[in-house]
Amino acid sequence: PVAPGATDGTDASGSPADGSAGETFREPEVRSSSGGRLDLELAAAATTVSIDGRQVRVLGFEGGIPGPTLRVRAGDRISLRFRNELGATTNLHTHGLEVSPEGNSDNVFVMIPAGGTFDYAYELGDDHPPGVFWYHPHHHGTTAEQLFAGLYGAIIVEEPDPLEVDRERVLVIADISFDASGDVATATRFERMLGREGDLVLVNGLLLPTMAAAPGERERWRIVNACTSRYLRLRLDGQRMRLLGIDAGRFAEPRDVDEIVLLPGNRADVLVDAAAGEAVLQTLPFDRGSMGAMGAPRSATTGADLARFVVQGDAAASVAPLRAASAAPRDLRDEEVTGRRTLTLAMGGMGGGMGQGMAFTIDGRTFAEGRTDLEPRAGAIEEWTIENTSTMDHPFHLHVWPMQLVEVDGAPVSEVDRRDVVPVPAGGRVVVRIAFEGITGRTVYHCHILDHEDLGMMGAIRVA
Ligand code: C2O
Ligand code: CU
Repeated sequence: PVAPGATDGTDASGSPADGSAGETFREPEVRSSSGGRLDLELAAAATTVSIDGRQVRVLGFEGGIPGPTLRVRAGDRISLRFRNELGATTNLHTHGLEVSPEGNSDNVFVMIPAGGTFDYAYELGDDHPPGVFWYHPHHHGTTAEQLFAGLYGAIIVEEPDPLEVDRERVLVIADISFDASGDVATATRFERMLGREGDLVLVNGLLLPTMAAAPGERERWRIVNACTSRYLRLRLDGQRMRLLGIDAGRFAEPRDVDEIVLLPGNRADVLVDAAAGEAVLQTLPFDRGSMGAMGAPRSATTGADLARFVVQGDAAASVAPLRAASAAPRDLRDEEVTGRRTLTLAMGGMGGGMGQGMAFTIDGRTFAEGRTDLEPRAGAIEEWTIENTSTMDHPFHLHVWPMQLVEVDGAPVSEVDRRDVVPVPAGGRVVVRIAFEGITGRTVYHCHILDHEDLGMMGAIRVA
């Protein structure tokens, strides 16, 4: 059966299969810092929401999916009282933020029991990069399940002098499935090995919402791929899209693009100059490998319509010319590299017999709580070659310290391109450079197909 909003990637009509008109685009509530501080409470709890007219039970922050959008600036202090009303252990990770990974900050080793509260405190350095970030649980073993059920939200670190646009939108994209009774579907062992994907691909918790604009308006879209496993291959045919950056990295120049590929965890900062007409934001099929003869993810052959973009009415006055990024991104050059290492991502072995399925490993082992796997020295600039001996792509994520792409599957990356989730293609490799500067501490790196993380593809790193 084809889910509402699903297409084979060629039909851009955008009509849900049930013919319903769809919902109006809206965004979660915004919590903005002021005077250098943001104080907020965030409760994670089961909640009932309406999706495309159907009442369903999800997990949400502050009663909805996504949770509130946090808007902060470099130099801010964030105090966040987290309440765990899930009935299961959880915690909170601020994905991509360059803050301490220890103490009460972005510490993924902190676990908050059911019914517990925890006071997180984050300090953004005065030189923290602007960009699009996000938050989600990081409880090893149930990360995928909790995130898939709705626990995610966006964080924007504003620029000191923001670009002049007519409208800014935050689009948090995530997939989800429900069973007949309206509960979030549970994944089989095999679906977890593939990386679970949902029947519905939602934008801000909405199925195929409509966004309205006037011709000539300039919009800035902050897009988060909060899908547990699905790669997004975004198109907006008939409209001009310019990519300002991926993750925290702002490119030196905006790039005209037809498609934007966002791995799970990646974010895009996009300019859209609205042209009269009706367009559909789509995700097209993407081949992220397979489990051989056992099967492939559905997204290899199935895309989805995500949102309608309806541009009509009187033309808007033209907006100010686009300013270049205020600071040129730093280039980590070969001669600065102080150390090199190779990591190997693999799937294999039937840990615990057929029923347990495959182990997902980094350098031959699955995550172990008490073990530290990598110990770069503070101040080092390392070059990592991350190899993938498996038949599936793995989006590789390192906390705290961004990675500059050097080479993807043999193709050199010439312009500075810094991300916190990088592609490691099946049977291929990626080369990245990382500056372990500014922040020290112990945290993790892992596959951001979060089922793979839960199945073991994670390691611990300490920088001291
Ligand atoms: Cu978005 Cu370690 O995760
Ligand atoms: Cu993976």
